[in-house]
Amino acid sequence: MPKIRIEPQGIDVEFDPDRPPLSGFGRPGSILDILLAHGVEIDHVCGGNCSCATCHVIVLDGMENLPEISEDEEDRLDTAQDLTETSRLACQTIPREDITIRIP
Ligand code: FES
Repeated sequence: MPKIRIEPQGIDVEFDPDRPPLSGFGRPGSILDILLAHGVEIDHVCGGNCSCATCHVIVLDGMENLPEISEDEEDRLDTAQDLTETSRLACQTIPREDITIRIP
């Protein structure tokens, strides 16, 4: 199964892309949905509705395994702190393969 690796903590969270965990936050199968369903704390002030940017994550590896960023996500991401070229919103980004992230 694919996994999300969180650095520098070295936490691995496996997920089945065809069976999203449905934590109730963020898009089903999003990084936020997967992490919360596995007990990994990550801020999500707006509840995963693409309106706060507190779920900002930095993708360290596996950008090619993520869908293109939407205009809505890009606009919201612009308000995040410590923005990088590989920043994404965890509540909007649905991985299908292995990725490595850092939670700033
Ligand atoms: S939780 Fe608010 S934008 Fe992702």
